[in-house]
Amino acid sequence: MENLSSVEWPPEPIVTERLVLRVSETRDRAAFVELLASPEVHTYLGGPRPRDEVERELPGVPERWPGSFVVELDGAMIGQVLLRRATGHRRPAAAGKADLGYLFLPRAWGFGYAFEACSAALGWLDGELPGEPVVLATQSANVASMRLAAKLGFTEVERFEAWGAEQWLGMRSPATPGGVLPQ
Ligand SMILES: CC(C)(COP(=O)(O)OP(=O)(O)OC[C@H]1O[C@@H](n2cnc3c(N)ncnc32)[C@H](O)[C@@H]1OP(=O)(O)O)[C@@H](O)C(=O)NCCC(=O)NCCS
Repeated sequence: MENLSSVEWPPEPIVTERLVLRVSETRDRAAFVELLASPEVHTYLGGPRPRDEVERELPGVPERWPGSFVVELDGAMIGQVLLRRATGHRRPAAAGKADLGYLFLPRAWGFGYAFEACSAALGWLDGELPGEPVVLATQSANVASMRLAAKLGFTEVERFEAWGAEQWLGMRSPATPGGVLPQ
């Protein structure tokens, strides 16, 4: 994976009905530690990193790179939305495409925040890179993530085995002007 290149970065904060998407700041560090060291968050992501290791190695301003959005609710970080370039992806259908990822703190699950934030990030990407398809890979056992992918308009490309589990690869076709699908 590589950072998104050829986008204007950092963008102005993206304001949605309930959330703000923005670049990371020093004040997000504690929330990032929580996110990266949480066993619940990493149930389907190969397990969490040891908390003391995260504490030690995380930079003062964590995860500040083009395509990494901190999601903020009422002034505090609740999650991260990541848009990257899937260079070297093990599945040819995904290689080189924009790739969506999302991680939210467990206390922020079940309110539609991930959907609201990912929709906004994808809308931003549509503006920056018109016509760009987006891929998403998730374990098929990750029911919440599978539901979110479907709501965001991702459809199945294929399933494959990796990291000891079945993975689901989905793709979202670019938005068409006026939302009308070509015939
Ligand atoms: C994947 C993940 C982001 C999904 O979070 P989520 O909160 O379930 O997702 P959504 O934002 O779509 O919210 C959907 C839920 O909010 C509920 N909801 C409540 N108010 C809502 C509102 N105003 N609008 C929409 N949904 C609302 C929905 O009913 C739904 O609940 P349900 O799952 O019980 O049916 C979260 O589980 C997570 O961070 N997991 C760990 C990281 C991970 O596995 N990431 C995948 C790697 S790609």
